[in-house]
Amino acid sequence: MGEVAAETRKQSLVFAVNRQRFELSDVDPSTTLLEFLRYQTPFKSVKLGCGEGGCGACIVLLSKYDPALDQVHDSTVSSCLTLLCSLNGCSITTAEGVGNSKDGFHPIQERFAGFHASQCGFCTPGMCVSLFSALVNADKTNRPEPRPGFSKLTVTEAEKAISGNLCRCTGYRPIADACKSFAADVDMEDLGFNSFWKKGESDEVKLSRLSSYNPNNASSKFPEFLKKEIKAGACLASKDYHWYSPASLEQLQSLLQENEANNGNSVKIIVGNTGVGYYKELELYEKYIDLKYIPELSIIRKDQTGIEIGAAVTISKAIEALKGENQGDYHLESKTVFKKLADHMEKIASDFVRNSGSVGGNLIMAQRKRFPSDIATILLPVGTIMNITTGQKLGKLTLEEFFARPPLDSKTILLSIKIPCWESRRDISSETDTKLLFETYRAAPRPLGNALPYLNAAFLAEVSFCRSSTRVMLNDCQLAFGAYGTKHPIRARKVEDFLTGKLLNVDVLFEAIKLLETTVIPEDGTSSPAYRSSLAVGFLYEFLSSLVHTPAEIPGGWRNGYSIAVLNGDSNSENYNKFNGIKFPTLLSSSKQVIQSSKEYHPVGQPITKAGAAIQASGEAVFVDDIPSPSNCLYGAFICSTEPLARVRSIKFKSGSPPVGVTALISVKDIPGKNVGCTSIFGLEPLYADEHTQCAGERIAFVVADTQRHADLAANLAVIDYDKENLEPPILSVEEAVERQSFFEVPPFLNPEQVGDFSKGMAESDHQILCAEIKLGSQYYFYMETQTALAVPDEDNCMTVYSSNQCPEFAQDTIAQCIALPANNIRVITRRVGGGFGGKAIKAIPVAAACAVAAYKLQCPVRTYLNRKTDMIMAGGRHPMKITYSVGFKTSGKITALKLDILIDAGAFADASILMPSLILGTVRRYDWGALNFDIKVCKTNLPSRSAMRAPGEVQGSFIVEAIIEHVASTLSIEVDSVRNINLHTYNSLGFFYKSIAGEPLEYTLPSIWDKLATSSDFYQRSEMIKEFNRCNIWRKRGISRVPIVHEVNVRPTPGKVSILKDGSIVVEVGGIELGQGLWTKVKQMTAYALSLIKCGGTEELLEKVRVVQSDTLSLIQGGFTGGSTTSESSCEAVRLCCNVLVERLTALKERLLEQMGSIEWEALVLQAHLTSVNLSASSLFIPEFSSTHYLNYGAAVSEVEVNLLTGETTILQTDIIYDCGQSLNPAVDLGQIEGAYVQGIGFFMLEEYPTNSDGLVTTNGTWTYKIPTMDTIPKQFNVEILSSGHHKKRVLSSKASGEPPLTLAVSVHCATRAAIAEARQQLLSWSGLDGSNSTFQLEAPATMPVVKELCGLDSIQKFLKWTMGTK
Ligand SMILES: Cc1cc2nc3c(=O)[nH]c(=O)nc-3n(C[C@H](O)[C@H](O)[C@H](O)COP(=O)(O)OP(=O)(O)OC[C@H]3O[C@@H](n4cnc5c(N)ncnc54)[C@H](O)[C@@H]3O)c2cc1C
Ligand code: FES
Ligand code: FES
Repeated sequence: MGEVAAETRKQSLVFAVNRQRFELSDVDPSTTLLEFLRYQTPFKSVKLGCGEGGCGACIVLLSKYDPALDQVHDSTVSSCLTLLCSLNGCSITTAEGVGNSKDGFHPIQERFAGFHASQCGFCTPGMCVSLFSALVNADKTNRPEPRPGFSKLTVTEAEKAISGNLCRCTGYRPIADACKSFAADVDMEDLGFNSFWKKGESDEVKLSRLSSYNPNNASSKFPEFLKKEIKAGACLASKDYHWYSPASLEQLQSLLQENEANNGNSVKIIVGNTGVGYYKELELYEKYIDLKYIPELSIIRKDQTGIEIGAAVTISKAIEALKGENQGDYHLESKTVFKKLADHMEKIASDFVRNSGSVGGNLIMAQRKRFPSDIATILLPVGTIMNITTGQKLGKLTLEEFFARPPLDSKTILLSIKIPCWESRRDISSETDTKLLFETYRAAPRPLGNALPYLNAAFLAEVSFCRSSTRVMLNDCQLAFGAYGTKHPIRARKVEDFLTGKLLNVDVLFEAIKLLETTVIPEDGTSSPAYRSSLAVGFLYEFLSSLVHTPAEIPGGWRNGYSIAVLNGDSNSENYNKFNGIKFPTLLSSSKQVIQSSKEYHPVGQPITKAGAAIQASGEAVFVDDIPSPSNCLYGAFICSTEPLARVRSIKFKSGSPPVGVTALISVKDIPGKNVGCTSIFGLEPLYADEHTQCAGERIAFVVADTQRHADLAANLAVIDYDKENLEPPILSVEEAVERQSFFEVPPFLNPEQVGDFSKGMAESDHQILCAEIKLGSQYYFYMETQTALAVPDEDNCMTVYSSNQCPEFAQDTIAQCIALPANNIRVITRRVGGGFGGKAIKAIPVAAACAVAAYKLQCPVRTYLNRKTDMIMAGGRHPMKITYSVGFKTSGKITALKLDILIDAGAFADASILMPSLILGTVRRYDWGALNFDIKVCKTNLPSRSAMRAPGEVQGSFIVEAIIEHVASTLSIEVDSVRNINLHTYNSLGFFYKSIAGEPLEYTLPSIWDKLATSSDFYQRSEMIKEFNRCNIWRKRGISRVPIVHEVNVRPTPGKVSILKDGSIVVEVGGIELGQGLWTKVKQMTAYALSLIKCGGTEELLEKVRVVQSDTLSLIQGGFTGGSTTSESSCEAVRLCCNVLVERLTALKERLLEQMGSIEWEALVLQAHLTSVNLSASSLFIPEFSSTHYLNYGAAVSEVEVNLLTGETTILQTDIIYDCGQSLNPAVDLGQIEGAYVQGIGFFMLEEYPTNSDGLVTTNGTWTYKIPTMDTIPKQFNVEILSSGHHKKRVLSSKASGEPPLTLAVSVHCATRAAIAEARQQLLSWSGLDGSNSTFQLEAPATMPVVKELCGLDSIQKFLKWTMGTK
């Protein structure tokens, strides 16, 4: 390999992790930093959430030292994409390095705990590292010194720091507050509920209570030993591990030539390696060439002709350069162009991708592979020049020429790009009237990025003002569009030519738009093509409309609020924060949390910080995949069917022989016992497809290899030979299931009862809607920790299985059947679960069983951690359904009868689907329908088997009833809120619909919540203001909606065990699993309360003495499953029963000791009890009384949204919730459950699409296509009040559930969106001279941007312009 190799041979890779030195001499160059940290170091805080740069769970702080400047550069990067070999001489800080239990937690971690910002904890280490990096970098700036205890960070930066990190549990608000608590410009009053202070305390007191922050301690602490080594000329990478870091173009060329001579294709050129997040590597490369050290590729050069940026410069550095302060010499207009390019680039991906992803990498991906790049589009109209080299030849191309070439070969290297300044392209003098306008646009599911755009655009125009006509002349323009389903970004030449030299007016704009319609046409196969084309029109309109001389008052009373607002930089829906007198837009405004804590059962009722929150924040909390692999451990990956119904003839690998590292292929024939993937009360499911596959995504086999990567790669290389001969066609829709009578039978006891007389109700009605249809899709759990298990064979044919699982008992039973052993040979252990939401109940069992079967066959430990794609394909998710309804109602809006025909797509296996009818009905009955008649069929199809997902059936029920209410209101042209009002239950009608579950009259709190919420949210005043807003704005419409919930839950038997150890500490086991919902915290509180009833000294300290331990199916039996929102309270009750027994056992001794000693402390009492052989361990099985197994929960929400009619984007401006928690066991935990559930509901109603292809195979299978809410998509103001509704004698210490019901409240966002759309449609019709006041339409869930835009009118701009031209 010539010079390079000779120079660097024998050297090794040196770097630091958490200030610890690592030196490696033999490294597989394809090893990622994540793999190294997780498998070869004790630092497990870097979590694998997606493996594609889309979630932030794996991020670390990467610090580089510049010996010339003696400076350290710190930034976050995703360890799942960063290759280890690229880190020579670098220092890595993980969450453990930020702070830990041994050396002390960092205030970041303490504040995450204190602000209740961690639930399952899987995202928390990544969040903490993001914030840490933001603090480190802010505190390095020369901004004014902040107040003591704060950082130089601003609130805006604090919010943005975590905007690329996903959290599925919390709903983000508390996380944002924890981050903002460090910001110098924060108003402490704005920070939400926390365990540090009480509302109303002074800022000084608040600050004194916060875990203190000293900016001087926030540095990344680059290790001195590494600095010394770097100064002494630290090594470059060595040939030994096939990693090359050429330091010059010549070296690079010689490497490339040598590779060519060796005919080697297996070389990969990289900079940040983030491209693999999108283009997954299905094979491994032999050699890697890192371009970062070649000076020509790393330059940033500014001269009077423009800015040159090296191809290896990261996007973050490019942003810095384009925004740079030392641009004094450029013309103002050029500076504006540079700044706008930078602003747009800040919306690309997330901070941690931009910090390592290069500008060149992005453009090469766009050139070679058609990547829908933002950078490519925005650089197109500004005359960018590309400097490339092929072999010895250097070349310059315009960006258009660059894209016009066939895909560049591997020898062609992009050296740099040059963005010219305007003055270098045009001869402009200061006297000229010519102005340069430049804007960039992108429409994406998430405004702040980490979402590829549906379309992006950039427009540059030179305009001058024509005094004679008082109009604007367009002298020249360049219009670029990209990412809309086109090979490369394009210039809209026809439109440019048409516009050039024109005086702008509405007619010209109209003609230009007509031309554009024929230009921006997505290629076949692109999703939402018409929507994307309409976006192009919207953006051009937005750009030019302010230049068109439109009268401020347009006849008919409309003001063009949109364009004026946008072009004047007016941000109606943005919040602002002041810092040093400057206003910064913030993502969220201050929110209100109202809770009442009760001392009656102290410490139950107190907002105690979540147990284990700090170790979750430091990443020390152990999840299943964090358990170190036992020696000789193997790793498995599932091979899934792509066919819905077929025989499997054979499974082979593409190469013919088993791929690298593969040890075994386990399938149905390797199961020693029964082929069961799960056993539950609901039915069986095979572990592996037997004779036939039953759906696409079904498990066919489990390939076992020496590493998880090898197993995953092998699974990808598997080729299945299917045979479909003589098989019936698969059932791929509910309609086909009906035709073929393919249903799961619902046992009578699970069939809900009809209510009232439907025919009579219909006869009483004044109006009827007959046979209206709606459809609902699925939703994926998106727990941050994917399915995982570790099975370890033990002596005497026993097996220990560590499983991330909501029902370990069912897993134990299943595994025992699979390997034909008694259940007492199988121990299933679950400590904590990184988010479940129902997806780790039935669906986690086959994962555990597959590991156990493989471990049994191979007689060695076997584990698996599913990659996100496989997890999404196998998960099933929520039940899609088709609903047909007929409803009768009076002119007043009072509904008299409702009939529902519901076809539920259960998929191929029963799972929990037979529960769906009663779950749906539990929610549908929330209104007084007069009479309610229904026919619900659970269809058995050859589609993925669906399972319970948080609020199963209930969220769909919520959608159904609100859609019907809205339909009734629009038919009658009356306010929908009045229809809701009139149909709310009285206590009598509640009893009629819910029978005995309705409880006591005083317990029916919904009417008071309903009224209270109207007042606390200013519902009526805001409704009026919205009318005014809508009257004054054309392209933004707002809607508001108030919805109630009545949500039935079911309490199940649950076991518990409490043991008091000799030193007075207490260990507790419960049937419930800690999923992040705070179950352990509530159980701890209950244990402390119930044992404190012994009434001796020191019991006030008991909370600190309680430890809840992992669930172990051989230690505590009959654990059942954790779900349905009530396992926390039933686990608490089980523990209370145990404690009662212990108190009773201790009482006689205590009395005796009291008599003897006058007083007795807890520890002394316990010691005496041990000495006198009192049994200090008690177990129980809580069985709820028959009359209290079901109860109702109440709440209501008001949401206000704003819809952008040009893009279809919906912004949630405000949500107010009041939710009845009875007497909350822990208001902090319940608040977290309410907010988190609600945001998950927003995902279902607004964002998350989980479709399948025509064979039923899931097609959105990663973070690129599946978009859960992020910080920038939650309500800007989010106010939650937990109502304490006093005494409920049949409930556990008067408490009520909070885990699922609030999720269904998110329907209020959907309804508010519908209201805003209705306004838009009315406006649209008015432009055609039609009255749209009673227009009825269906709004699908999720109401994504394309869906909303389509309903608002894909051609609304054209209609508006026509109307404007007509009224002139
Ligand atoms: C989660 C995520 C979200 C993203 N979102 C967006 C987005 O919204 N908009 C957007 O525009 N982009 C987005 N990106 C793409 C991102 O900008 C690119 O991944 C990144 O810029 C690539 O740079 P890199 O240095 O990591 O390239 P690498 O991954 O190192 O390389 C990418 C490819 O380019 C080749 N290559 C790299 N440099 C050169 C060179 N100088 N000459 C020749 N070949 C070269 C490599 O061989 C490789 O084939 C996203 C990426 C991720 C991971
Ligand atoms: S695991 Fe790396 S970003 Fe998701
Ligand atoms: S706490 Fe964020 S994903 Fe669970």
